[in-house]
Amino acid sequence: MKFFIDTANLAQIKEAQDLGVLDGVTTNPSLMAKEGIKGQENILKHYVDICNIVTGDVSAEVIATDFDGMVKEGEALAKLHPRIVVKIPMIKEGVKAIKYFTEKGIKTNCTLVFSAGQALLAAKAGATYVSPFIGRLDDVSTDGLSLIEDIRVIYDNFGYETQILAASVRHPMHIIECAKIGADVATCPLSAITALLKHPLTDSGLAQFLADAKK
Ligand code: G3P
Repeated sequence: MKFFIDTANLAQIKEAQDLGVLDGVTTNPSLMAKEGIKGQENILKHYVDICNIVTGDVSAEVIATDFDGMVKEGEALAKLHPRIVVKIPMIKEGVKAIKYFTEKGIKTNCTLVFSAGQALLAAKAGATYVSPFIGRLDDVSTDGLSLIEDIRVIYDNFGYETQILAASVRHPMHIIECAKIGADVATCPLSAITALLKHPLTDSGLAQFLADAKK
């Protein structure tokens, strides 16, 4: 399973890249705002800065919600760097835009997906990635992981190549369950990735080994 980091924070992206397990980055307008990145020029520069840290795909989201606007914005984003993936919301105009970019050979990530039907449409339009938001489903008492299971079954039934990118991942058990189900990618906060490292028996075992090595 690929690991993406879900942030626009350059220091965290670098830390994950340095760990050697990072396969890409996802961002969204809220994550950009959290880093205080304002103004079109600064936003575009920030995407390039991210691309220069990592070696994998970097999702950059369009703000427009009409087809022409999404095409214009997406084409400008795609020109920034070969690693850019155009992130497009799951709305009617978005499906048309995904189809357009697919035919142009530009990678897309269909975002804000909350149902299997939406994921099916994204795959039919040719999205490179589909982003089901599992944490936000859990937040409203719906099982986010069962959506990943449903999408996996549907995509495997028909051989869709769209990669399931589990998003709104909140903790390490989300990552482990996504790996068991067969999500292609999990995009996670750095804290969820580093939490995978931790086990008290590792810490106590290492302390014992180091103590014994001095004997
Ligand atoms: O990848 C989508 C993600 O940024 C949403 O996460 O935690 O805001 O639901 P969250």
